[in-house]
Amino acid sequence: MSPTIPSTSPPPGLHVAIIMDGNGRWAVRRGSPRLEGHRRGADAVDRIVEAAPDLGIGTLTLYAFSSDNWRRPLEETAGLMQLFHAYLRKETARCVQNGVRLSVIGRRDRLPPEVLAAIADSERSTAGGRTLHLRIAIDYSARDAILRAAALAEARDELSRDRFAGLLAHATHAPHPVADVDLLVRTGGEQRLSDFLLWECAYAELVFAPQLWPDFTPADLQTALSEFQSRQRRFGGLAPAPAA
Ligand code: FPP
Repeated sequence: MSPTIPSTSPPPGLHVAIIMDGNGRWAVRRGSPRLEGHRRGADAVDRIVEAAPDLGIGTLTLYAFSSDNWRRPLEETAGLMQLFHAYLRKETARCVQNGVRLSVIGRRDRLPPEVLAAIADSERSTAGGRTLHLRIAIDYSARDAILRAAALAEARDELSRDRFAGLLAHATHAPHPVADVDLLVRTGGEQRLSDFLLWECAYAELVFAPQLWPDFTPADLQTALSEFQSRQRRFGGLAPAPAA
């Protein structure tokens, strides 16, 4: 039987997704190990999460580790796993205090047991948060998620976009389907999607920011949001006719 997906109303506000790129370059430019860039990247995550609700963001999805990142040297992947573990252990109490619901999306079968335990504790403790839904993508691949969701679909005839979004949530361990992404930001100057939220970004506005992720500030996010606000979203329709 295919899974029943509980639907919970998300916090009101925009869904912003961020590809946090540039940690490695930030470190290399300073002659530091790449992991130092990731550590400073975690500090940037704190600042952005704290600022998000006041910027009108209800759901924030951060790309922390793609399934293709396993191709990196063991030292870096193991260091990142330690960093995620430390982050979840350290930040959960603050999330509870600030009404932040924390979920991790992606595959779970390749994560170290201590990270899995920290995810379970964080998700349980923060489940009541209604100010911001913070989703951290770890071992995430949009194409793999779509494949897993397709495999869950029992009868293709019954599939609709909403139903598929539900299966996609289930396939990534998300607690419920989320609204489509409104704004996708990629830091670090490069301009690609890197297998992130391919279904959910169907009509996302894209903003590519030059700053390396550890340097990205709430003011930079505000700039990206201002750019977003200046765009006209037509969702395939036509622009409204000018008032006579
Ligand atoms: C991409 O930059 C970034 C990553 C693969 C890791 C992202 C991790 C963090 C921001 C820190 C921890 C996150 C949380 C949620 C606690 P890159 O290393 O590919 O940068 P480069 O393109 O300059 O090499």
